[in-house]
Amino acid sequence: MVHELHAMASIGSLLTVLAALAPTTLAQANTSYVNYSVQAQPDLTPRTLATIDLSFPDCTNGPLSTNLVCNTSATPWDRASALISLFTLEELVNNTGNTAPGVPRLGLPPYQVWNEALHGLDRANFTPSGDYSWATSFPMPILSMAALNRTLINQIASIIAIQGRAFNNAGRYGLDSYAPNINGFRSPMWGRGQETPGEDAQYLSAVYAYEYITGLQGLDEEHQKLLATAKHFAGYDLENWDGHSRLGNDLNISQQDLAEYYTPQFLAASRYAKVRSFMCSYNAVNGVPSCANPWLLQTLLRESFDFVDDGYVSSDCDAVYNVFNPHEYAGNQTAAAAVSLLAGTDIDCGTDYPWFLNESFYEGRVSRGDIEKSVIRLYSNLVRVGYFDGNDTEYRKLDWNDVLKTDAQNISYEAAVEGIVLLKNDGTLPLSKKVRSVALIGPWANATTQLQGNYFGPAPYLVGPLAAFQETSLQINYAFGTNISSNSTEQFAEAISAAKKSDVVVFAGGIDNTIEAEGIDRMNITWPGNQLTLIEELSKLNKPLVVLQMGGGQVDSSSLKENPKVNSLVWGGYPGQAGGYALVDILTGKRAPAGRLVTTQYPAEYATQFPATDMSLRPEGSNPGQTYMWYTGKPVYEFGSGLFYTTFSVSESSSSTKSLSVRGGNSYNIVDLLSQSHAGYEYIEQVPFLNFTVTVKNTGKTASPYSAMLFANTTNAGPAPYPNKWLVGFDRLPEINPGESTTLTIPVAIGSVARTDEDGNRILYPGTYDLALNNERDAVVSFTFTGDATVLERWPSPSS
Ligand SMILES: *[C@@H]1O[C@H](CO)[C@@H](O)[C@H](O)[C@H]1NC(C)=O
Ligand SMILES: *[C@@H]1O[C@H](CO)[C@@H](O)[C@H](O)[C@H]1NC(C)=O
Ligand SMILES: *[C@@H]1O[C@H](CO)[C@@H](O)[C@H](O)[C@H]1NC(C)=O
Ligand SMILES: *[C@@H]1O[C@H](CO)[C@@H](O)[C@H](O)[C@H]1NC(C)=O
Ligand SMILES: *[C@@H]1O[C@H](CO)[C@@H](O)[C@H](O)[C@H]1NC(C)=O
Ligand SMILES: *[C@@H]1O[C@H](CO)[C@@H](O)[C@H](O)[C@H]1NC(C)=O
Ligand SMILES: *[C@@H]1O[C@H](CO)[C@@H](O)[C@H](O)[C@H]1NC(C)=O
Ligand SMILES: *[C@@H]1O[C@H](CO)[C@@H](O)[C@H](O)[C@H]1NC(C)=O
Ligand SMILES: *[C@@H]1O[C@H](CO)[C@@H](O)[C@H](O)[C@H]1NC(C)=O
Ligand SMILES: *[C@@H]1O[C@H](CO)[C@@H](O)[C@H](O)[C@H]1NC(C)=O
Ligand SMILES: *[C@@H]1O[C@H](CO)[C@@H](O)[C@H](O)[C@H]1NC(C)=O
Ligand SMILES: *[C@@H]1O[C@H](CO)[C@@H](O)[C@H](O)[C@H]1NC(C)=O
Repeated sequence: MVHELHAMASIGSLLTVLAALAPTTLAQANTSYVNYSVQAQPDLTPRTLATIDLSFPDCTNGPLSTNLVCNTSATPWDRASALISLFTLEELVNNTGNTAPGVPRLGLPPYQVWNEALHGLDRANFTPSGDYSWATSFPMPILSMAALNRTLINQIASIIAIQGRAFNNAGRYGLDSYAPNINGFRSPMWGRGQETPGEDAQYLSAVYAYEYITGLQGLDEEHQKLLATAKHFAGYDLENWDGHSRLGNDLNISQQDLAEYYTPQFLAASRYAKVRSFMCSYNAVNGVPSCANPWLLQTLLRESFDFVDDGYVSSDCDAVYNVFNPHEYAGNQTAAAAVSLLAGTDIDCGTDYPWFLNESFYEGRVSRGDIEKSVIRLYSNLVRVGYFDGNDTEYRKLDWNDVLKTDAQNISYEAAVEGIVLLKNDGTLPLSKKVRSVALIGPWANATTQLQGNYFGPAPYLVGPLAAFQETSLQINYAFGTNISSNSTEQFAEAISAAKKSDVVVFAGGIDNTIEAEGIDRMNITWPGNQLTLIEELSKLNKPLVVLQMGGGQVDSSSLKENPKVNSLVWGGYPGQAGGYALVDILTGKRAPAGRLVTTQYPAEYATQFPATDMSLRPEGSNPGQTYMWYTGKPVYEFGSGLFYTTFSVSESSSSTKSLSVRGGNSYNIVDLLSQSHAGYEYIEQVPFLNFTVTVKNTGKTASPYSAMLFANTTNAGPAPYPNKWLVGFDRLPEINPGESTTLTIPVAIGSVARTDEDGNRILYPGTYDLALNNERDAVVSFTFTGDATVLERWPSPSS
């Protein structure tokens, strides 16, 4: 996904020697390549890879029919091993890249590992029209997560898996996907933060990883739906900030930050969700490129995080090549391929493995067994998705009708409606029934593909705000007004005149993929271009003014927050194919908002205070601390912000902290906590030790769903510095009618209250803790841990 196919280095006389030794024809040498060390911003034109028409292995006739791989009673590993044992060395090496040619003489068809499923199918072989010409396009994950609805995330992923399998059955999509993206949205300037569930890595990203992965894969490990790939491992959260290319970044990350922020969501993906695959990232961590890093891929992933035995690691696309250039961690591509394979990168999304492992082998750097192990891992997982099982299995029966059926559930719309966040409102929203005309202005007003963010395929339809408003009985006066980033005032007059003749003004703008995208970080977090100038002029007209702040990353909206003539502010992310309907239904009050920000909206100065390449979470020097956990400044809108169309009162329920055998009052002995039986939970850290229970009453006049976040904080458990607070739970309740009450119960797991020491160990510390609901601390329950500080999870020592 990054650059022109780099090319083979000339290997001169060695080639002659190898040709004599092996039944092999190495590809034509080509010495020219892009040197990324001297090119700060690499060419990001995606390579167009030939589309493979996928088909299934022939288990009925031909050579494989008598091989164990076609025997459904054998284990996946044994089946894959039997298959791979038939490969010649050249066939083996040929199948180590993402575009695997298969082995024609065995009836093993080509396979494509590189499939995308970030928020809908992408890199599928769509037809121009008719059946298989589109797939459901959901909102970008940053918006779906803001709904605080776990079930929703699981449902989105399971629909994508069903659609993926339908496309696969038609030969148009693979059986694995490079999703989800679970890196923490640490720097607000990161262009790909929109792809993630937000800035809370320990809890929110971990929950998202669990729901998305189990949604894609299903829970039956022997019959998986679609293989998920947790990416990008590890420490990847910048594209090209200040000219630092993601392909060559070498990031210094302390063991404490690695354990606390950069990897806990990957632990959850591995240990709890049992993800079948990981992707190693472009960047280096503490001097070693991730794809060549045995400490990350072996010690951490396999030995500490319990990665499933036959799970495979795929490189990010061309990241094995990047081990050589620009990282220069290996002196040539042969060495880069060898060092990556031995470190634990099984599949190269790229061509270094298929083109160079042959040389690595004849140079004695890797054995046939080393290569076999990696290819067996991939095929063992293809066995688990039924690649070799014939066509009468459940998922093999899915077809285009199942795409139609799942799209008709309209979950893309639901996700957008549930995720939209109301940041400011003086009662202007929902729009009064008396409103007859709306001026709809701004660079997002007539959005179409903008709705999809990035990594998307064709959608069945793309309905933006203008199209959705036009389906209502309101009179819509549309004006473009201004571009996302331009300073031209040419179309201001038209916008002002549209506003003047309307009852209400809606400005839809912010940012989009022209300034935040893969390969594109921002250097500031201000509203780009002259959008704020236009909003300011519109606000002087004394008409009700609603601003829709769109895009995945936040922009500093403090001037809108402070301007009393800006009546309402709504964050809408990238809302997907039905985004316009969702926004309009929220504005008109057909649906009530209950999303909450999953990122901090920082003031503009944050972007200039310290370099985004400073990975340290805790405040230090000019770094004011990163994420809501450690930031010492004052956010414009805090992580967790979100208003409703009604008011809720929250009262602590007498049933909070129900009986638990080890409990005395609200005091828990750490040894007792850890020694209790944990039936129903695989790991002790997953066991809830306390239920936080409150009664939520709708005290206003509008029916509304309710959402809440639960934070822990302490000022004496473990050593200083203490985080401001940290997330330990969240939930969303269905619509509550005015005057009615509902009980909200958030279970708090033992692991979620652990803190991370300087060596990266996760520790339960004795001391006093608060559990507080939302930023407003709507209800607070305190508890105490007694006994000795105890290690819950030991972090392996860094590579020496
Ligand atoms: C070598 O690679 C460069 C850059 O990818 C390409 O432009 C050129 O045509 C290639 N040359 C040969 C001989 O394949
Ligand atoms: C299939 O594999 C199972 C388990 O390894 C074995 O018991 C059985 O004999 C095999 N069947 C055939 C037809 O090879
Ligand atoms: C290996 O792959 C190359 C390039 O795709 C192809 O030309 C060659 O025939 C393949 N060799 C075998 C043995 O499949
Ligand atoms: C890339 O260019 C840099 C700077 O000129 C040079 O030091 C380095 O050796 C080059 N790297 C490769 C892989 O050719
Ligand atoms: C690659 O580099 C290694 C040293 O790192 C060297 O031993 C080997 O000969 C080189 N291979 C090629 C094909 O240039
Ligand atoms: C299923 O596979 C069998 C055996 O290969 C074949 O005869 C049959 O036509 C296939 N059925 C479908 C629906 O593709
Ligand atoms: C809105 O966008 C669509 C698609 O780009 C375009 O066809 C249409 O003309 C636009 N509408 C207006 C009023 O500009
Ligand atoms: C628009 O104006 C701002 C503020 O004066 C300036 O920083 C920015 O570079 C201008 N942008 C363009 C595209 O001219
Ligand atoms: C902020 O960054 C955007 C691009 O991300 C750019 O268009 C704009 O000119 C910058 N604004 C200022 C004030 O530097
Ligand atoms: C929390 O509530 C659930 C459901 O009522 C109950 O099964 C569980 O035992 C409670 N857990 C604790 C720690 O009280
Ligand atoms: C938690 O934070 C609140 C607000 O800053 C503070 O008042 C309270 O004392 C803290 N609780 C503990 C247990 O330190
Ligand atoms: C959460 O999402 C599920 C699945 O889409 C949906 O059925 C449920 O109503 C949602 N819950 C709330 C409280 O909105």
